[in-house]
Amino acid sequence: AHQWQGVIEEYRDRLPVSADTPVVTLGEGGTPLVAAQWLSEQTGCEVWLKVEGNNPTGSFKDRGMTVAISLAAQAGDKAVVCASTGNTSASAAAYAVRAGLLPLVVLPAGRIAKGKLAQAIVHGAQLVAIDGSFDDCMRIVRELAKNYPVALVNSVNPVRLEGQKTAAFEVCDALGDAPDLHVMPVGNAGNISAYWKGYQEYAKDKLATKTPRLWGFQAEGAAPIVRKKIVEHPETAATAIRVGNPASWTLAEAARDESGGRIEMVTDEQILTAQRELAAREGVFVEPGSAAGVAGLLHAKAQGWLDGGSTVVITVTGHGLKDIDTALDHAKVKESPVTPAHTDDVARVAGLI
Ligand code: F0G
Repeated sequence: AHQWQGVIEEYRDRLPVSADTPVVTLGEGGTPLVAAQWLSEQTGCEVWLKVEGNNPTGSFKDRGMTVAISLAAQAGDKAVVCASTGNTSASAAAYAVRAGLLPLVVLPAGRIAKGKLAQAIVHGAQLVAIDGSFDDCMRIVRELAKNYPVALVNSVNPVRLEGQKTAAFEVCDALGDAPDLHVMPVGNAGNISAYWKGYQEYAKDKLATKTPRLWGFQAEGAAPIVRKKIVEHPETAATAIRVGNPASWTLAEAARDESGGRIEMVTDEQILTAQRELAAREGVFVEPGSAAGVAGLLHAKAQGWLDGGSTVVITVTGHGLKDIDTALDHAKVKESPVTPAHTDDVARVAGLI
């Protein structure tokens, strides 16, 4: 029986590692591509979900972090630093402690979903919550990495994108070719750039016959690429993608343009509705930021942008359990009344009688 070895061993010849690199892995990657029955019916396409919440720390960040932390360990670094809306810090913390490195995470105070904050805390990260936005955190960690002996593990570190491109390989390996269209949320804009790199590499090496169009979706209140302008005070319930000045802005525009794709925006209401519907109809619980791609596909259908019959992959980037506060706030049914511990009462409350 084959045990999945993590993305470095699985795709070693396509990653910037050598025989001397100490591989720091938690078995990331190898995530399921789940057939999306309801979304396929809604759109007239063949829709698949690349469920990245199944990674070890519950988001796609682990694919890049295994590479970034392995190389930091190889370089003899003692500490790593990142800015984060939550998932990067959770991933950096887990992989850093596994390698014996100190994780330092700089976060926008009060803007991190509780599950993600819990992850950074339990893994033992040195946490600094600042009075500022994610974009302020990014500026600060770049300066820290320049002036102090700490390695930067945000996706401005190009090895992060190398690791993340493996998701495109997995999609092609599973489908036997690239899809026609790949849809995902966009925040700091690293992931869409990484997918484009992966798809181009597979097409060049004839492991896929084509590259897909890439469609990225930002939240309306945090849509700098769509608006072609830095958003000074980004706002969205999808805190993962609450980014006003994406670090990989130019790379993401290149991914959009070279793939013949789009970067568009969806409202928080569309995002939260998509999150709820995905959980209730497909059985897949994702965090709000992750639902931006699903909201985007439904929006695209309504706008008439979709070609019927296309093969579509949506990356759902992070697990729903990371942010249960937002999920419960927007749930239709709150909680059940406390019921006497008798079968008849339970049957009545459950609507069986
Ligand atoms: N989805 C989730 C769940 C995320 O956490 C992020 C980014 C994105 C989508 C967007 O990906 O930044 O590559 O465009 N989270 C970063 C973080 C910003 O700090 O965890 P992107």
